[in-house]
Amino acid sequence: MSETRTIRFTLNGRSESVAIQPHWNLVELLHHFGLTGARESCGQGLCGVCTVLVDDVAVSGCLYLAVRVDGKKITTVEHLDEGGTLSPVQQAFIECGAFQCGFCTPGFVLMTHQLLARNPDPSDDEIRHYLSGNLCRCAAYPEIVEAVKLAAKLQKQAR
Ligand code: FES
Ligand code: FES
Repeated sequence: MSETRTIRFTLNGRSESVAIQPHWNLVELLHHFGLTGARESCGQGLCGVCTVLVDDVAVSGCLYLAVRVDGKKITTVEHLDEGGTLSPVQQAFIECGAFQCGFCTPGFVLMTHQLLARNPDPSDDEIRHYLSGNLCRCAAYPEIVEAVKLAAKLQKQAR
């Protein structure tokens, strides 16, 4: 077995320190902490199922080595609610029925958070383009676009 390496980082607002195997990817690190919203599917950076925010930037957890989060801030889908209340994005995905099996949903939700933080009023084309790296095998795409638009509206109302 290879040597472990100790890393320190902020995980969903809490400081953490853990000894990991150097080959672990970010998804393996999160599963170690019981956070299973990000999962490994294609394992090649092609589907978006493993999306995680590192220092507020979306990364593919399947390709991102866990040692790289040393000193950084990780945000997962489990931390998007606001004090127990669903975020506007989470609420909108539920209201629009923007998922069937839900496997891809955490990735879409995180990417939508990032999109609306950068562009609070995206057009349909901008939404499709921004989410083009996330695949939904259930083909819930029309509902997902509707959910993003509703989320934008809910966010505006909340301001
Ligand atoms: S599992 Fe990481 S992009 Fe598909
Ligand atoms: S809801 Fe099933 S893969 Fe997207």
